Amino acid sequence: MLISVYGASGYQAGLVLAELSRRETPAVLVGRDAGRLRRAADAVGFTGAEQRIASLDDHAALVEAFTGCDAVINCAGPFTGSGQAVVAAAIEAGCHYVDTAGEQLYVKEIFDRFAADAERAGVSVLPAANDGCLPVDLLAHLLAEQAGPIAEITTGHLIVDGGGPSRGSLRSALATADAFVSGGLTYSGGDWASGIPARSRSITFPGQAEPTEMTKMPLVEVITIPRHVCASHVESLGEARLGARLGTPIAPEVIETLAEGPTEKDRVAQRFTYVVDAVRHDREAVRGVVRGTDTYGTTAVIAVEAAQRLASSAEPGVLAPAQAVDPADFLEFLAGRELSWAIGDPQ
Ligand SMILES: NC(=O)c1ccc[n+]([C@@H]2O[C@H](COP(=O)([O-])OP(=O)(O)OC[C@H]3O[C@@H](n4cnc5c(N)ncnc54)[C@H](OP(=O)(O)O)[C@@H]3O)[C@@H](O)[C@H]2O)c1
Repeated sequence: MLISVYGASGYQAGLVLAELSRRETPAVLVGRDAGRLRRAADAVGFTGAEQRIASLDDHAALVEAFTGCDAVINCAGPFTGSGQAVVAAAIEAGCHYVDTAGEQLYVKEIFDRFAADAERAGVSVLPAANDGCLPVDLLAHLLAEQAGPIAEITTGHLIVDGGGPSRGSLRSALATADAFVSGGLTYSGGDWASGIPARSRSITFPGQAEPTEMTKMPLVEVITIPRHVCASHVESLGEARLGARLGTPIAPEVIETLAEGPTEKDRVAQRFTYVVDAVRHDREAVRGVVRGTDTYGTTAVIAVEAAQRLASSAEPGVLAPAQAVDPADFLEFLAGRELSWAIGDPQ
């Protein structure tokens, strides 16, 4: 199996390359700068890996770069306004596609714009194969299967420690600052709409004595969950403190002065808890919980595993995580990689 990594010189891509190298999966590094690609390959001991140059505005070069590869993992954020070129080229090259995007409107656009093309070409496209969207989407699917008809879903994300976001994540937040200010889309009554106030303002996470103040946040699972769970309302919340920080964008020139991303020590010290709070039609509340460490390291494992699974067997089309992989099997795979998940409320 041959996997190409687009935006291979970035911070998240470095962790993806390390994961591919650990698995001894051959990789092709693709990007716009030969020197930076070589340094990225050397950094993870991928010295023999092939490098191909293709910028986002050169469709033919992108198609050529992906031709012969089983899947591409696109790490070139911000994806808003640029990821579409990589998706279009992957479909034309007959190469399955995975990305690490956390940008809500971008992911909706991929579903809206590429579903028919991907299906016709027999290509599977899985946006948002990251630590946040993928496990939460899979958990929502299992929760709905086990708990019966669901009326509402609220997802809540809490991240503690970890050295802060990477420069790339801050650039993505800047590119989607309007969505952070508005809270983004809510799925309501069969369609997505902005401007709908959150139904919950706080969440008591497992192990907490006090509720955490939350705010509406433009998370991607709002786009993916309604594609396989029949709920009439889906909203996503993040910690209010983080929302205020991301809603006050840092100037691009300031971002360039920051570290590329958290150190390994910070990543390992980080803890995340994501809850899926569902309300059944009979108003009974049910909860699913995912907990882990190291959001960027977990994203690398998820993106590589998802790309390999897409290349082995998946339906063609643009897919939500639960449509692309077997939910329980994938979560069990992650459970072997230091992520825990449960339906119910573990303390
Ligand atoms: N849970 C989540 O939502 C989640 C988790 C993990 C990651 N992510 C997302 O993953 C993305 C990557 O983050 P990162 O920290 O790795 O970013 P980064 O270090 O800035 O890396 C970005 C990569 O994209 C390439 N790139 C950017 N713009 C390009 C363009 N116009 N043309 C060609 N290549 C371009 C860069 O190439 P050069 O080296 O040539 O500049 C670099 O290789 C971000 O969008 C982040 O939000 C999301």
